[in-house]
Amino acid sequence: MFRTKPLEDVLKDTTEGPQLKKTLGAFNLVTLGIGVIIGAGIFSLTGIAAANYAGPAVTISFIIAALGCAFAGLCYAEFASMLPIAGSAYTYSYVTMGEFVAWIIGWDLVLEYAVGAATVAISWSRYLSKLLHLYNVDLPAQLMMSPFETAVVNGQTVNGIINLPAVFITVLMSLILIRGTKESARLNNFVVVLKVSVVLAFIFLGWGYINKDNYIPYVPENTGAFENFGWTGVVTGAAVVFFAFIGFDAVSTAAQEAKNPKRDMPIGILGSLVICTILYVLFAHVMTGLENYKNFVGEAAPVAKAIENTPYKFFQEMIIIAILGGYSSVVMVLLMGQSRVFYSMSKDGLLPSVFSELHPRFLTPYKSNILFAAFVGLFAAFVPVTVVGEMSSIGTLFAFVLVCMGVLVMRKTNPNAPRAFRTPWVPFVPIMGIVVCCYMMYALPLDTWIRLIAWMAVGILVYFSYSKKHSKFAK
Ligand code: ALA
Repeated sequence: MFRTKPLEDVLKDTTEGPQLKKTLGAFNLVTLGIGVIIGAGIFSLTGIAAANYAGPAVTISFIIAALGCAFAGLCYAEFASMLPIAGSAYTYSYVTMGEFVAWIIGWDLVLEYAVGAATVAISWSRYLSKLLHLYNVDLPAQLMMSPFETAVVNGQTVNGIINLPAVFITVLMSLILIRGTKESARLNNFVVVLKVSVVLAFIFLGWGYINKDNYIPYVPENTGAFENFGWTGVVTGAAVVFFAFIGFDAVSTAAQEAKNPKRDMPIGILGSLVICTILYVLFAHVMTGLENYKNFVGEAAPVAKAIENTPYKFFQEMIIIAILGGYSSVVMVLLMGQSRVFYSMSKDGLLPSVFSELHPRFLTPYKSNILFAAFVGLFAAFVPVTVVGEMSSIGTLFAFVLVCMGVLVMRKTNPNAPRAFRTPWVPFVPIMGIVVCCYMMYALPLDTWIRLIAWMAVGILVYFSYSKKHSKFAK
């Protein structure tokens, strides 16, 4: 159970047998990162975090969350340049902490990737109804929400049945992934240009209309409860906006499809993270400068609200269209990360071979893509957005903690293995990664913790009833 897979065995897996196609360069990897990072987090959580926890100091919340990600990202970069394999954190743990921990992290990554994709798909559905509403088209509300949600339509309360648009976007993105990594990357590049243009336009156009009074006080006084404003509120805000950074590590799952992973993996992971952090802080600064944070209470589309304080109201429609396009690449890259992690787990025998069978022509794990379209579709159809969003955050933070630990272990067990990129200031950086990420986990609600533990318990059952017996390495 705790036997570790030798480094040489892992590297052999990347050269023997049918392989994923190597099509991605440094530029594609950076855009892959930006494609998955900028999404529901920045466009809807910024307002919620400002209104409920941090006020204008939500910019500082973003910086704290980014610090946690940067520490973890530096650890990911060392591993990804050393072990360019689709399994990412799962494989890093297999080499450093043994099969059981590897299984735990592989199972946990389902929360980050699959459940994260469902979260963004649900958010997509909301923006779609907003857009259609601008054109006086209203789809039946019952078909746009999970059964746990209600909405008031024409004075009557209606119950949700199924979130059909969320299922639609999940299936569509899965089909594009099956078609090929290069094709998916091409679509992603287009979307990234669109998305970054909108963020930049918001920053530049909005800057001149900032009302400085909205920044007073910058850190609103704490109201008594731990998370309600003040510095503790700023930290809680960091755990909330952390979702906005989820996905940069998905770049590492494309390592086997990179042309020169040793050099380009660190560029892709850290480059996309740095660019997005700068954009996020400026974006949040302009948003809370245009509109007082108190007015974002209960506001699902804070960008649209902030824009009303500029002469660029007509821009609203374009922003919604760009957001819809922007979310699609987030769903796509998260789904891609998911299928790549399961590809590696299946290659190792811990999961059935259907997860690693490649399409004869497209060379993508198409059966896995189809199965995950169904699984993610079910979550998107029937679960409310906050539940999946927080599950995704806690799962990701847990993975980050284990990767930071992995670097510490690897430096002890394989001190001389070639590392194209070395995490600086070890052990300071990995330890700080663990501390900051654990703190953000701590700030998440109790029911999210219970769901994490329940999901992990199911995983442990699957491990002992299937994976342990089928492990190729154990044999
Ligand atoms: N970081 C991604 C988003 O905010 C998951 O949508």
